[in-house]
Amino acid sequence: MGLLDLTSLLAPGLPPPTAKWSGFAKYNFVGGHNDASQLPLDGLIASATSVLRREGRTLANYGLESGPLGYLRLREFLVDKLKRDAGISCAADEILITSGSLQAIDLINALLLDRGDTVLVEKVTYFGSLNRLTRLGVNAIGISLDDDGLRIDALASALDDLKRRGIRAKYIYTIPTVQNPTGTIMSEARRRALLALAQAHDVPIFEDDCYADLIWDGKRPPALYALSERRDVIHIGSFSKSIAPALRVGFIVAPWELLSRMLPLKTDAGSGALEQMVLAEYCTAHFTTHVPELTRGLRVKLETMMESFSEQFGTAAEFTDPKGGIFLWVKLPDEVDTLKLAQAAQAAGIAINPGHEWSPDKVYSRPRMRLCFGNPSKQAIREGVAALADVCRREFGVPSRIANVERRAQG
Ligand SMILES: Cc1ncc(COP(=O)(O)O)c(C=O)c1O
Repeated sequence: MGLLDLTSLLAPGLPPPTAKWSGFAKYNFVGGHNDASQLPLDGLIASATSVLRREGRTLANYGLESGPLGYLRLREFLVDKLKRDAGISCAADEILITSGSLQAIDLINALLLDRGDTVLVEKVTYFGSLNRLTRLGVNAIGISLDDDGLRIDALASALDDLKRRGIRAKYIYTIPTVQNPTGTIMSEARRRALLALAQAHDVPIFEDDCYADLIWDGKRPPALYALSERRDVIHIGSFSKSIAPALRVGFIVAPWELLSRMLPLKTDAGSGALEQMVLAEYCTAHFTTHVPELTRGLRVKLETMMESFSEQFGTAAEFTDPKGGIFLWVKLPDEVDTLKLAQAAQAAGIAINPGHEWSPDKVYSRPRMRLCFGNPSKQAIREGVAALADVCRREFGVPSRIANVERRAQG
C-alpha cells in the first residue's frame, strides 16, 4: 500500500520546508549560541537535584502550583533582578514566563498585529523578529541607528510621515540594550526622548532586552519600561544569553490587563516547568556571580575576533567595538555581497549571517554581516576568520594581499 500523500492537503501560505539538519559548520559564527565552557553545569545539576527533592511532586499539576503565568519562584527572582538591574518596579503577576523570548514575540504580535499593519523597527534588527513580521504581512519601517541607538530625528520624521498618511503604527520595536546586531546601548537621554516621542504619537514601545545582562562594564541604563510613566512599554527578556538557550525560557513584563489578554493566546498549557524550577533555584543563588564571569570570557573572545579581522581583512573590514553581547557587526567594501559570501563560505565550512537577513533595507545591509563569537573557541575564531578572508578574497578580491601587507608594514 502506498503512503498517504499529504501535500495536496497542506494549508495555504506555509513557509518553505526546513532542510534536514546536518550538524554545525566547522567554523560556526551564526545564531546566538553560548560559550559551552562557561555554562554553569555543576550549579545547574545541584539546583535540579535540590529543587526536585523539595518540590518535585508539584510536577503532577499543569503549571506546578503557580498558575498560568509560570513558576512563582522564577517570577519572584525576576521581580528582584529587574528592580536591581533595570530599575523596573513590577509585581510577580506582571510577568509571564514564556518558551524562550521568541514565544514572547509571537504572543505580543498575536495580541497587536493584523495583516497590513505598520510597525517601526531599527534599521538593522533581529532576524527572528523581522521574518515574523514578513510572515504576518506587516509593513516594517526601518529607522536609522547611531552609536546611541535609535535616531530620534529619523523616528520623528517616520512618525510624521505615517501621520500624514493616516497610519498609526502598532508599535516601535527596539533592542535598546546591546542592540542585535550592532551592539550599541541606547543612552538614558535617548530613552527619555524616545518615550516622549512615542507618547506624542500614541504608539506603544516593544522593548526587547534579550542581551541586557551581557554588558562589558555592567552599566545598564534603566529600561524603557522603568522610565515610562504611561505604562506604554511591553518589555521582554530571556535566560538564553545569560544561562543557556536550549532551556527555552524567556519572559514578558506588562500590566496584568495586557497579560490577561495574552494568556488565552498561549495555548501550550504552560512552558516547560523543569527548566523554570532549575533556573529559579540556580539564579536566586548564583546569577550575580555567574554573569560577570561569563561576560569577562565573552569579552576575551570578542577581542580575539576583532584582532583576527584586523589581521586578516586589514582596513577592508569596518566595525565598532560592541558594548556587550555575542556579536560583531562587520561592514565590508560595497562590492562584497555578503549573501554570496555566506554561500561560498558555507561550502568551505564557515557559517556567517549575511546582512540582508537583518534589515528591511537590502541595499544598506548587502555588504554587512553578523558573526557570533559566543560559541567558537579562540582558536576556531582565529582560523575561521582567516578562512573567511580566503573565501572573500577568492570571490570578491577583498581583502587584497597588498592591503594586508601594507597594514602590517604600518605596524
Ligand atoms: C533580540 C532577540 N530577541 C529575542 C531572541 C530570542 O531568544 P530566545 O527565544 O532564545 O529567548 C533573540 C535570539 O537570538 C534575539 O537576538
